[in-house]
Amino acid sequence: MATPGPTTHMERMSRRTPSPPRRPRGWRWLPWLDHGGRVSALRIAVLIALASPGTVLLAELAAGLMGAEPWKAATREAGTRAAYILLISLAVTPLRFAADWPRAATLRRMVGLGALAYALLHLTLYAGHLAWDWLAVAGEIATRIYLTLGFAVLLGLSVLGWTSTDGWQARLGRRWKRLHRLVYPLAAAAVLHAFLQSRGNANAAVVMAGCWLWLMAWRLLPGRWRAQGVALAVLAPLAAVGTALVEWAWYAAATNLPAGRILAANLDLDLALLAGPRPAQGILVAGLAVALLPALRRGLRRRRPVDSPRPPAQA
Ligand code: HEM
Repeated sequence: MATPGPTTHMERMSRRTPSPPRRPRGWRWLPWLDHGGRVSALRIAVLIALASPGTVLLAELAAGLMGAEPWKAATREAGTRAAYILLISLAVTPLRFAADWPRAATLRRMVGLGALAYALLHLTLYAGHLAWDWLAVAGEIATRIYLTLGFAVLLGLSVLGWTSTDGWQARLGRRWKRLHRLVYPLAAAAVLHAFLQSRGNANAAVVMAGCWLWLMAWRLLPGRWRAQGVALAVLAPLAAVGTALVEWAWYAAATNLPAGRILAANLDLDLALLAGPRPAQGILVAGLAVALLPALRRGLRRRRPVDSPRPPAQA
């Protein structure tokens, strides 16, 4: 009878503690896998949230539900998504601090790449609007300043997307952080691009500017204040005032509309109830909601039983 051959220490250990099946290293880039190569429900949820608006947009375009100028409407929609998702990618770190949610950091790259994907879709739909005449697209980009600006943002986002991998992070070392800080001026340029084509109604661009102002103000806070409810509560009205001033400056400088009356409308609560909140009011409410997160976090922590372990920090 054949007897089993001698076993090594490692073989005996691996028989006692079965390890989870290993995924091939080459598959780690799949967006629904976390850093450990496990399928992550959180990442799947974020992926679905990112992909859904684009899928709906393309389905509506294919079904002819986008009005008289469908490609133009779709271009606008994709551009708006790109800008908001870009701002959300910048909001991941503040959210991580305010909600004490370290796992949020693992989502930043995915959200940033989502913004790039929508920006590329935006350009593709614009080409569709110009009957797929890419020479005409290039001509428009070269001659219209707001399109040149949009193109510069797209190029910048592409560089950041390309170098967002762990490999590039290791290769560039400290320079990686410096390079990726460019995302703030790129986001500002995207907001300016939105303003420059907004004509009579700049509400969406003003909201984007308000988000950007809040994010920059948060970055300027000393490190120890970044997760403090009081500091965040002060930030909210400051960002709202900044938003109202940007709005006033835009209407005063670029349109014939009564900028002073538009500024005063920010204090008219009856009008807000009747016609919906002004951009600055929206920024105030959103900023105050973020300021509540630290208190909410503390309340939840107090309610958690003493012996229940904290969830793991990393995905
Ligand atoms: C080659 C690059 C780009 C081109 C050719 C381009 C083109 C356009 C065009 C033609 C419009 C106006 C649509 C219309 O009303 O007729 C527009 C609006 C807009 N674009 Fe871009 N864009 C580019 C890059 C970007 C990027 C990178 C972003 C954001 C990350 C962006 C965000 C927006 C936003 C927010 C609007 C305003 C949408 C609205 O008012 O509803 N664009 N873009």
